[in-house]
Amino acid sequence: MRAAVCASYGSPEHVFVSDIDAPALGPGQVRIRVHAAAVNFPDVLLVADKYQLSVPVPFTPGSEMSGTISEVADDVDGLAVGDLVTGTALVGAFAEEAVVGAAAVNRLPAGTDLRLAAAFGVAHRTAYHVLRSVGRVQPGDELVVLGAGGGVGLAAVQLGALLGATFTAVASSDEKLAVAAQLGATRLIDHRTTDLRQALKDQIPGGTDVVVDPVGGALAEPALRSLHYGGRFVTVGYASGEVPRIPLNLVLLKGITILGFQFIDFVGNAPDEWARNEAELVELFVDGRAVPHVGAVFPLEQTSAALRLVADGQAVGKVVIEI
Ligand SMILES: NC(=O)c1ccc[n+]([C@@H]2O[C@H](COP(=O)([O-])OP(=O)(O)OC[C@H]3O[C@@H](n4cnc5c(N)ncnc54)[C@H](OP(=O)(O)O)[C@@H]3O)[C@@H](O)[C@H]2O)c1
Repeated sequence: MRAAVCASYGSPEHVFVSDIDAPALGPGQVRIRVHAAAVNFPDVLLVADKYQLSVPVPFTPGSEMSGTISEVADDVDGLAVGDLVTGTALVGAFAEEAVVGAAAVNRLPAGTDLRLAAAFGVAHRTAYHVLRSVGRVQPGDELVVLGAGGGVGLAAVQLGALLGATFTAVASSDEKLAVAAQLGATRLIDHRTTDLRQALKDQIPGGTDVVVDPVGGALAEPALRSLHYGGRFVTVGYASGEVPRIPLNLVLLKGITILGFQFIDFVGNAPDEWARNEAELVELFVDGRAVPHVGAVFPLEQTSAALRLVADGQAVGKVVIEI
């Protein structure tokens, strides 16, 4: 099969496309003929060996995909050859075929757009769990979303609007902010051309209820300072490459709460909330209220270019690789 391969750690340009053996099917797994796969920031980090987990080379990157089941292990119930599905795994999605644990596979109704389905898994789920269970966003809340043009950020914008929040999108270009506005952001701040702390002060004089931060770096503290007494700051990722160091006196003075979310830990630690959120989210996707914004589509042969776009923070919404 054709597959993207990371044979040595490094930049996205280390990833090439080659003919390799299809992965063997193990117990509890299904084989998916991949139609589309979406790129996520952690794919870039895994290729660079800078993620919190290390995958031995050579490996095929890619963590979320949509496609058709082509083989099912004997011990798997409830899934069949021919089912349209999405699947998630740490790696393996940027290929013609992928094997995925049955528990990480969700069936899709006939007629689902497989490109959109591939782009829905990681960013929207992360954003929804963050807003619903960690940030506990309520209708009317003032929300600030950093990295609002990226995968997680734009999903948080869209889902925040569906949860009834009023919110401010913070991003680095007119293009990203325009898409955030289309998806419901009412206030837009370009942090490259505006002083973020002053802009938030001016635009939200009563202060913010919740900040969602998938970027970190220099933007985190001014966003945190915009919280009113008792507000909540949710740290989701560090796409800037810098883990922010927040002076704790700000937490004391403002009586705020700093919270964290990590996908893999939330599943096991809050299974009931996880299940409720996942069910709500699938409904939002299937009835067309929460559809990912796909900013760029690449063929499999150009996987490294797709990874490069994400590595540079240039993606608007999701980047999809069509197989
Ligand atoms: N905790 C979890 O479970 C979880 C789940 C999924 C993702 N994440 C993390 O969340 C972060 C965002 O993921 P994503 O998929 O939304 O990424 P993305 O689509 O690439 O968006 C990241 C955003 O970060 C900003 N950014 C600032 N400096 C950057 C830099 N040096 N390089 C790249 N981007 C930079 C960019 O926004 P502006 O230029 O507009 O500021 C960009 O749009 C990543 O760190 C990822 O690992 C965490």
